[in-house]
Amino acid sequence: MADDTTDTKSSNQMWGGRFASGPDAIMEEINASIGFDKKLFAQDIRGSIAHATMLAHQGIISAEDKDKIVHGLNTILSEIESGNFEFSRQLEDIHMNVEARLATLIGPAAGRLHTARSRNDQVALDFRLWVKEELQKTERMLTGLIAAFLDRAEEHAESVMPGFTHLQTAQPVTFGHHCMAYVEMFGRDRARARHAIEHLDESPIGAAALAGTGYPIDRHMTAKALGFREPTRNSIDTVSDRDFAIEFLSIAAIAGMHLSRLAEEIVIWSTPQFGFVRLSDAFSTGSSIMPQKKNPDAAELVRAKTGRINGSLVALLTIMKGLPLAYSKDMQEDKEQVFDAAESLELAIAAMTGMVRDMTVNTARMKAAAGSGYSTATDLADWLVREAGLPFRDAHHVTGRAVALAESKGCDLAELPLSDLQAIHPDITDKVYDVLTVEASVASRKSFGGTAPSEVRKQIAFWRARN
Ligand code: ARG
Repeated sequence: MADDTTDTKSSNQMWGGRFASGPDAIMEEINASIGFDKKLFAQDIRGSIAHATMLAHQGIISAEDKDKIVHGLNTILSEIESGNFEFSRQLEDIHMNVEARLATLIGPAAGRLHTARSRNDQVALDFRLWVKEELQKTERMLTGLIAAFLDRAEEHAESVMPGFTHLQTAQPVTFGHHCMAYVEMFGRDRARARHAIEHLDESPIGAAALAGTGYPIDRHMTAKALGFREPTRNSIDTVSDRDFAIEFLSIAAIAGMHLSRLAEEIVIWSTPQFGFVRLSDAFSTGSSIMPQKKNPDAAELVRAKTGRINGSLVALLTIMKGLPLAYSKDMQEDKEQVFDAAESLELAIAAMTGMVRDMTVNTARMKAAAGSGYSTATDLADWLVREAGLPFRDAHHVTGRAVALAESKGCDLAELPLSDLQAIHPDITDKVYDVLTVEASVASRKSFGGTAPSEVRKQIAFWRARN
């Protein structure tokens, strides 16, 4: 009877003491969160076991009751895991669903579990544990994506492609270097995830409703049992804080933005006009009407998922922005945003990792494109500075005239005869042709972080040691 509405007339069995009747059906519908927060069942049960164990250790409940509670909670865990648990919407949320079942299983001892805590610190705990695990998962998945890029970068450390600014051919670069740009981006995303884990690594349980509790609890003990570094330091902040969820969403939004830029490049690169890459059959689809087509749907959906993630970030910031301290029910709306964004982010990273690993790189097409559009014009200007002693501004002007001439003749810079070049500037010698090839151009860019294959290999080694 998942999410059912049973008798709405009787008052709530968990908090209905002062209520003569139960909620209106609409009240129940707007109030219930079990439809989505059942996802937190494992965290909820873990938290309750740690809490009950601490209560017994502190002499607040008996060891006998604690044993019954822990045993009952473990039974509930396996019931839920095996799909043999009936969630009830009347019981609102995961916390009360679990507690009500515990009462059925073990009787009155179940009523002692909620001593010295509130659903406010309980939900803060469950959600923090969930987000922490999700950040750890994000970290692992980004490591996989970075590894895929490192392999492609290694394979293509020497493959020349056009580098773009304004999506206009700018200077030749290597495909390996371009791949390593994404390694830097996803490396920063992973660092942000690590940092966010450190930030949220404080245990909320024991803050109770908002003021702490008069029972002699040990918050350090529960923090340790649940794998947190330490307990949070202010009970009011603890139950009203959702920064950890917003940080997760910001990290997801930034990573999503990176994934979307990559998706956009893959969409462009896989057009017949560019033809830089060919997506594998596993990561593309056909058209139902045009038999020749191979569509980059996975890349397009990654690009779109980013929109959803951004929406979740803005939604939660907006939910939180006007709330007075401490807990307000508005905060129940935090979970769907985070769950949806997490699912989108996971899918997007997984699809991208697959696409990057599987795509075929057309190095001939890339190289041909790299040489077009006078991409070695800067190399000519640099040669004039280096070999003929011209100031860079003058060299830029001379090169501009050479480009204009080549354009009028419909040829590349390297195809202009020496006599033409010397007519533009007498100090030009036939040595200039050495720098006008795309290979010479990339090989010369040995500055730290530059596109020369030797430099790209150094950066690959740097990241291999950190991945
Ligand atoms: N389902 C609630 C939520 O997700 C749990 C906390 C309810 N607390 C309360 N005081 N009503 O936020």
